[in-house]
Amino acid sequence: MSRVIVAGSGIAGLTAALRLSGRHTVTLVTKGRLGESNTEWAQGGIAGVIGTDDTVDSHIADTLTAGAGHCDPEAVRCLCEAGGDAIVSLAEAGVDFDTDPTGSWARGIEGAHSYPRIFHSGGDATGRAISTALAQKLRIEVVAGRVTLLEDTTLVDILTDDHERRPGRATGVTVLRDGRVEALAADAIVLATGGAGQLFAHTTNPAAATGDGLAAAIRAGAVISDLEFFQFHPTALPGPGFLISEAVRGAGALLLDEHGHRFMSDIDDRAELASRDVVALALHRRQAAQDGRPCFLDARAVPDATAKFPSITAGLAARGLDLSRDLIPVTPAAHYFMGGVATDRDGRTSIEGLFAVGEVARTGVHGANRLASNSLLEGAVFAARAAAAIDARPTHTTAADLATHRADLRSEASESLNREHHLPLPQFDPFHQTARTRTELQALTWAHLGVERTAAGLRTLLDRLGEDGTDKGHTDKGGPDERDHGKDRNCDPAVRSVEALETANLALIAEQMARHALAREHSLGAHTRTDTTLASST
Ligand code: SIN
Repeated sequence: MSRVIVAGSGIAGLTAALRLSGRHTVTLVTKGRLGESNTEWAQGGIAGVIGTDDTVDSHIADTLTAGAGHCDPEAVRCLCEAGGDAIVSLAEAGVDFDTDPTGSWARGIEGAHSYPRIFHSGGDATGRAISTALAQKLRIEVVAGRVTLLEDTTLVDILTDDHERRPGRATGVTVLRDGRVEALAADAIVLATGGAGQLFAHTTNPAAATGDGLAAAIRAGAVISDLEFFQFHPTALPGPGFLISEAVRGAGALLLDEHGHRFMSDIDDRAELASRDVVALALHRRQAAQDGRPCFLDARAVPDATAKFPSITAGLAARGLDLSRDLIPVTPAAHYFMGGVATDRDGRTSIEGLFAVGEVARTGVHGANRLASNSLLEGAVFAARAAAAIDARPTHTTAADLATHRADLRSEASESLNREHHLPLPQFDPFHQTARTRTELQALTWAHLGVERTAAGLRTLLDRLGEDGTDKGHTDKGGPDERDHGKDRNCDPAVRSVEALETANLALIAEQMARHALAREHSLGAHTRTDTTLASST
């Protein structure tokens, strides 16, 4: 039995915590309320092969092709072979997958899949169904005293036993609760903090997607990989970033330019169901050719569209649009981070004791462009594998240590925790690293790290972020909200704001991402360099 801290409560964090519960002393730390995550917002579904004439080999081939030859084939095999069992486990956990008229689970199709293999719930509310079912199970573990749940608690940093900040062994984390930083000791840490769509001015991600785990891993010196690959979803509503699932195109919706021309069939034989990188780039370019005016999704001929996609229908109705009657304006928006903390196939990072699962991880399953509906699957499969790897680790913890750890968590006395477990708060201070407002940062990132990139633009971004670095030491300048927060509390310099931390995290990730994008001089998958002509071979 060891002390495990799981950070994040999407599908990956919940799966890891549930698998570890009862066998270890588990603490789940989550920034908002339990289950508030990208998972909850997922619409389309979860991909997997169960029965039919579909095969795991076909799912593997589609994943590798969508990933533009940049995937780790063994990781992809792990993912796809486990798909069927992962979906059955979710059903056993209470996810009510939709059925077809024969009573079998219904299967949808999305871009770049050769077979219908997307299992869904509530039509287009699969993520919510998964999140609700797993969070309910987790609360049972909390009530039974097998898991300690810390809501409204934000991961700040990963503590290691190497004080010169070279990767050593992870010894705990610091977290932000009620404006104060506390240190929590652990034998193993599972990062499941999700993505960082808030890097960009236009995103389908919730406000919490600020890359906190990735930034903490960067600061701790973990190996990071593939940060140049960020997926843009082709069909978000302009402005608010409300997602119109790829499943709507899977059901037959078309993409039209402002003249009503179905342009995707000019570009790719798969037309609207080409891989997401291809569709997003085509749409972005068509929109640019129309002086920025949006293209349209036409679902008017999709049978029973509003019944099939009730959440999207409701979201559109709130904005005065009707899927069955209107052309829906759409534009690409930042959706999913393929890059992240480099892991092996069991979620192990380069730092002993630190695991990463779900979107924060770079497992190699997505390569340069993720196949639709492989993300929930990745979260479920690799979180379970990481939990098994933690089970198999030798434990250094005695029962007395565990009792102390639990008591310390309950008392929330961070100072005594630090004394007890010899965890000094790190000298590095992520709260004071940027002078730029969140909105300015997102606009810069959208302009220079968006769908199309150039070396000149990336250098401009790095220069601008470098200028911010000269302002280190100025407090709480992450944005108007941060400044307000700072003003409210500036009587106590120990009080920190989540917003300032998030903005500093986003700035750090933007800088690292720009460096990765500059280093990859040729286009590959979701990374499009318009200043070089060759596509890279991998
Ligand atoms: C969607 O429903 O289009 C998003 C699904 C995904 O990101 O895989």
